Amino acid sequence: MAFFAILPLLYLLTIVQAGLAAHPQTCPPTLSRSLPAPTDLPIIEALPDPWTFFNNASLKSPADWACRKAELLTLVQEYMYGYYPDTSRETVKASRDGDTLVVTVSVGKKSGKFNVTLSMPTNVNATRRDPVPVVISAGGVNDTVFLGSGVALATFTVTDVAADSTTPGGVFWDLYSGEDIGVITAWAWGFNRILDAIIEVVPEFDQKRVGVIGCSRDGKAALAAGIFDERITLTMPMSSGLEGIAPWRFQFQELGENEKITNITGYAPYWTNTNLLKFVNNSHQIPFDSHLNVALVAPRAIIWDEGTIDYWTNPEGEARVTFLASKAVYDWLGASDKIGVAIRDSGHCDIFGYTNIQAFMLKEFFGTPTDRNYSDISPYTPYPTAYPWIDSAPGKSLG
Ligand SMILES: *[C@@H]1O[C@H](CO)[C@@H](O)[C@H](O)[C@H]1NC(C)=O
Ligand SMILES: *[C@@H]1O[C@H](CO)[C@@H](O)[C@H](O)[C@H]1NC(C)=O
Ligand SMILES: *[C@@H]1O[C@H](CO)[C@@H](O)[C@H](O)[C@H]1NC(C)=O
Ligand SMILES: *[C@@H]1O[C@H](CO)[C@@H](O)[C@H](O)[C@H]1NC(C)=O
Ligand SMILES: *[C@@H]1O[C@H](CO)[C@@H](O)[C@H](O)[C@H]1NC(C)=O
Ligand SMILES: *[C@@H]1O[C@H](CO)[C@@H](O)[C@H](O)[C@H]1NC(C)=O
Ligand SMILES: *[C@@H]1O[C@H](CO)[C@@H](O)[C@H](O)[C@H]1NC(C)=O
Repeated sequence: MAFFAILPLLYLLTIVQAGLAAHPQTCPPTLSRSLPAPTDLPIIEALPDPWTFFNNASLKSPADWACRKAELLTLVQEYMYGYYPDTSRETVKASRDGDTLVVTVSVGKKSGKFNVTLSMPTNVNATRRDPVPVVISAGGVNDTVFLGSGVALATFTVTDVAADSTTPGGVFWDLYSGEDIGVITAWAWGFNRILDAIIEVVPEFDQKRVGVIGCSRDGKAALAAGIFDERITLTMPMSSGLEGIAPWRFQFQELGENEKITNITGYAPYWTNTNLLKFVNNSHQIPFDSHLNVALVAPRAIIWDEGTIDYWTNPEGEARVTFLASKAVYDWLGASDKIGVAIRDSGHCDIFGYTNIQAFMLKEFFGTPTDRNYSDISPYTPYPTAYPWIDSAPGKSLG
């Protein structure tokens, strides 16, 4: 009798304690959606401090990260991605026909579908009892890196989800026509709906080991997919550049030009919402930078690939600025080994990129040890001007 009386009490105490930890006193009020116009935001010369809230209050410890993360999610949607759809209104129905996975998404009376190709690993038999990790891929990769290593692929064509065009087309716009959402977000949503479908009808894929990958504009989408879906355990943006891993604030153009917002405004303004375009010539007013997009994935794993002669994507900025700044947040959260950069001496979306990230992926999915140091940014060096706050991480590490 006594046992049964005490148990609920202990349970209640545990909940209360967990509640206190999750809602620290320093948490500022939730941001509303009526935020300042881009041109009314304060100018921030260096990368925005991860440990300062939007209202300028300081975080006190890693326990405050949940609050900071929540406001950052609002900021990146307000000023860049557009607001990700409310998936609680969606119904996802999946079916399989051979190697094809058909994903049907409905919202109210609207509905659309797209196809995904499933590829099984070549060196193991994927079964319900021994499920394999899966990487959801926007387009083709070096299959050997994945299928030859016990990892399945689920490959789709991003333009089936949303046209790479100012003119809306594809499943996403069938459902969300007229909304001020970027196509990068639409593509990210595609990755996420494929995972819904896999969970429904592909039991031989392991829901606890799920990667997303894409190169160039699809790499920007892979990063967004990792940000918006906590079920993704490994995010792999390749040659992603601006609106992906490249910083808005710091460019290194001695050897070749880096892409700027003004360039994107010319040929693909639809990749983001309309607010982002208002930061042309004012990128110092963006209340986040790419290091915080990366930090939104933490403490889940992320590895990115970049080529030293792929100047348009600002590879120097991705390593010297974004990597070291976002790693500071990972370190602080006790997740140092969950972030990596893989630098290679070649160009945009070089096929070698997949081999470049392979050891990190195998460590993440199978615990396979590697001698490779994925924190090594050589041939580059740190760029401390970008992160004057780096040594002021508040409180103790959770790790
Ligand atoms: C935070 O501080 C900056 C610099 O002093 C200022 O420009 C900005 O308005 C402050 N933000 C808020 C929300 O008070
Ligand atoms: C999608 O896959 C289904 C089932 O295999 C097939 O009938 C259909 O033609 C495919 N659609 C497209 C656009 O390829
Ligand atoms: C996979 O299953 C097939 C058929 O049962 C079998 O012949 C093959 O040896 C298995 N492969 C591995 C790697 O276990
Ligand atoms: C990118 O924009 C800059 C600034 O307006 C311009 O000088 C440059 O020519 C553009 N680059 C390309 C490749 O369009
Ligand atoms: C941005 O700056 C460039 C170069 O000074 C100028 O030509 C262009 O008109 C500016 N664009 C906007 C939208 O202010
Ligand atoms: C594909 O990946 C395998 C395994 O990493 C590698 O040995 C091979 O060289 C790669 N192929 C290309 C064209 O990069
Ligand atoms: C990996 O490289 C970084 C940067 O050069 C260095 O600080 C770190 O000590 C290295 N880690 C190991 C395990 O060698």
